[in-house]
Amino acid sequence: MRSAGSALAVAILLIARRVSALDNGVARLPVLGYNAWNAFQCNVDEDLILQTANQMVALGLKDAGYNFINLDDCWALKNRSDTGDLVPDPAKFPDGISGLVTKLAALGFKTGIYSDSGWFTCAGYPGSWANEKRDLELFNEWGISLLKYDNCNIPFDNITRQNEIGRYQVMQKAIADVAEESGKPPIIFSLCEWGWQQVWLWGKTIGQSWRTTGDISPQWSSLASIINFNSFITMATDFYGRNDMDMLQLGNGDLTIDEAKAHFTAWALMKSTLLIGTDMRNVSQDVVDILTNSEILAINQDPVVGTSISPFRWGFNPDWTSDSLHPAQYWSGPTQDGVVFMLVNVADSPATLSFNLTESPWIRAGRQYSVRDLWSHTDEGIAVRSFSRDDVPPHGVVALLLKDAGDEPDALMPQCAVWYQCVTQDGIHVGG
Ligand code: GLA
Repeated sequence: MRSAGSALAVAILLIARRVSALDNGVARLPVLGYNAWNAFQCNVDEDLILQTANQMVALGLKDAGYNFINLDDCWALKNRSDTGDLVPDPAKFPDGISGLVTKLAALGFKTGIYSDSGWFTCAGYPGSWANEKRDLELFNEWGISLLKYDNCNIPFDNITRQNEIGRYQVMQKAIADVAEESGKPPIIFSLCEWGWQQVWLWGKTIGQSWRTTGDISPQWSSLASIINFNSFITMATDFYGRNDMDMLQLGNGDLTIDEAKAHFTAWALMKSTLLIGTDMRNVSQDVVDILTNSEILAINQDPVVGTSISPFRWGFNPDWTSDSLHPAQYWSGPTQDGVVFMLVNVADSPATLSFNLTESPWIRAGRQYSVRDLWSHTDEGIAVRSFSRDDVPPHGVVALLLKDAGDEPDALMPQCAVWYQCVTQDGIHVGG
């Protein structure tokens, strides 16, 4: 009979296996690229996609790391071919998708495509249900590198006999089988089922990213609600598997520059996939400057630390309060270069945002830290014990990288920045 100890060890191993990310060699880090959906919905064609790609090169976005161009819905004809294959709409893509992939590759881009785990896509084009392997073979033949897989128009239960997990696993298997048969790397699997069924608990066993919410819109209320929701599930994100906070809306709608900065900072530091979603033919320089902030992008693409920032204090609300208009304000996380902080002013008027350094678990007590402002790109001197920033604009953001700068000054009072449970060697509580 197996000993209790070894049974426990097996159980722990199984749990560890169940929750660990699917490391099939692709998308260890967040994907950076472009998706036309937010700006154009179904109104896309090869000309637009190639103009976009050329602009991405000309504006320096390709060099900044945005190297995927992803098609979304509406690239196909409404009917499959006589032999059952998906057919690219020849009016939109005269050289087919494979022709587009070749042209994008010549510019240095990989291509992503879109399908759906039901009968039809969300816009009513053919879905991949019951055609998973066939469609994946075609995508692989065309040279596709990423599949966004949606959740509209699901067959009846007596047909699927599956839950969400099961429908997505069928495509996962098709991806793995096609990779093995073709000898090409697996296609990156981007789950889009809007956070149903607690996808953050199992998405990492099936794909490399999973949408956590319904569709983003270009208003602060939408951004705030996505930040709020994701603030409670940051632990799901790491290398090879991440919460996808949806495609970027920078440059769209009526977002202010401060809101656009907060949007980009939150998405990047929470290690979301970053897909630009604005019309690149008339994007403003302000938006390009935000998207190419190399100090923020470096944290999103950190090769050593894969985890997301998390809130350490909600601020506007009591801790752990869910408020879709007023998410957590004080966030931090480890990086390969130090501890990154994100402060968000969720109020509609300017505010002072302050914190004690050791509120963040990654800060060492009794040490001082150099402060780098990741938006002004300036060094802000040495922080001892606390940091404060006045006049943070409404919906504005502060992003800081703190690096250990040695012991804090001698004889600093009080002896402990946080007095709870802090005592002399004799057990006397002298402060607080
Ligand atoms: C869903 C997805 C969107 C987009 C559309 C396309 O709504 O969540 O991101 O792909 O479908 O129809």
